[in-house]
Amino acid sequence: MSAVPTPQASAVPGRARGFLSGAREIEDAEVGVRGALPPWLRGTLLLNGPALWELPGGRLEHWFDGYAMWHALRIDGTGVRYRSRFCASESYRRSVAAGAPVYGEFGTANPAGLIARLTSPKVTDNPAVVMSRHGERWLSVTETPSLTYFDPRTLQTLERLDLGRREEPMHLMSAHGFTLPDGSYLNVATALGAKCEMKLFRLAPGSVHPQVIGRMRMPKSGYTHGFGLAPGHALVWETALRAQPLAFRFGAKSYADNFRWDPEGGSVVHAVALDTGGVRSWRIPPMMAFHATQAWADGGDLVLEIAIYDDGVVFDDLRLERRRAGLPMRSRMRHVRYRLRDGRRDAEPEPIAGAAIELQQVHPERIGRGRARVCWGAGNGERGELFDCTHRVDLDSGAVTTWRRAGATHLEPLFVARPGGTADDDGVLLVPTLADSDETTVVGVLDARTMDCVAELRAPQIVPFGFHAAFSAA
Ligand SMILES: [Fe+2]
Repeated sequence: MSAVPTPQASAVPGRARGFLSGAREIEDAEVGVRGALPPWLRGTLLLNGPALWELPGGRLEHWFDGYAMWHALRIDGTGVRYRSRFCASESYRRSVAAGAPVYGEFGTANPAGLIARLTSPKVTDNPAVVMSRHGERWLSVTETPSLTYFDPRTLQTLERLDLGRREEPMHLMSAHGFTLPDGSYLNVATALGAKCEMKLFRLAPGSVHPQVIGRMRMPKSGYTHGFGLAPGHALVWETALRAQPLAFRFGAKSYADNFRWDPEGGSVVHAVALDTGGVRSWRIPPMMAFHATQAWADGGDLVLEIAIYDDGVVFDDLRLERRRAGLPMRSRMRHVRYRLRDGRRDAEPEPIAGAAIELQQVHPERIGRGRARVCWGAGNGERGELFDCTHRVDLDSGAVTTWRRAGATHLEPLFVARPGGTADDDGVLLVPTLADSDETTVVGVLDARTMDCVAELRAPQIVPFGFHAAFSAA
């Protein structure tokens, strides 16, 4: 085997150092604080993301592929402390032991031989994407139906729950689930076969048995990363990036390479009633999407606000090689609204005034309960820079307020509500950033209304760029 060296930091443009392996497990370190943290802000900022792409005998190819590391920044009123730990997933443990990847990942081909793939198909459990609450517990996932529980204080990996079973197969899962008011975990899984079936399911607190609420069948399922939750309904979209079902289960190609852009097939939004499981569907023009901003009900209509793409180029844009080289994003996201009218069978995207955003956020108390009038997200630069600013968008007026650290990549702006506050934007945003001139990651603490940066948290190392954060009150 030939050694696969990690590119030297000096060979990678400043802010693109966030795409390098090299983050360490740190047990306890001080976080430098500049400015004044709001006195009410107490708890733990949890960050999750890929942190290791190179092993001695092989490498992972895509930003999404790296082995997951969790990071905790604990804010307790006296200071801020940092801890980081790799998730002890099967994929990570076996690959590190073997010195090379043993599972296919999102953008890395499956290295298993044909017989192994046919007789014992395996999918990765590397949960580098989303952290969610399930009852009182925390879990971490990627886009497969493996839930990895972890301790948000120690960052220890606890047990893993694999949801797909013979009598209720599930091969893929949305990375983004929702935690319902009773602590249930709500998500959408896909069973791949001659016909595909998407299943909206609920996992009650403490339960290991998903209860399927509603089912949607289609010849080939679309790439699914998230869905929307309106009062009483889940809004599940089918992108026009369609799975090749058998190749997915048994082939050697990477996860991403098993999707084909199929605009002729169009796209669909399904509304699944949470009480009856009844499904209504609307045809929409072909689209690709990762994230809903929010979903809400307006009389008999349902409304989905979402960032969409007009093709599947974004997968390629986010390959590690392109990101380390700082190449411009060719894909363009659009922030749009679909109004799903009762009695109609189709819908068109209407532009949302303001700015195009990704990694969108709204006040978490509005999700599934009402409608937020304000959202936030990361914006791309005019020359195609990935996430070079943070936008606040007023969803009624289209007014945009922008925070930009010069020369920095801005990740998801996690909204943390002020206890006792009532307005949609009464709280702070916690925004991990890395500028060309930064020695380590800087988390901006922003007044979510004014977008003024009130404090900066300087982590003791570069936190490799991840996708989604969470805030634990503990
Ligand atoms: Fe996501």
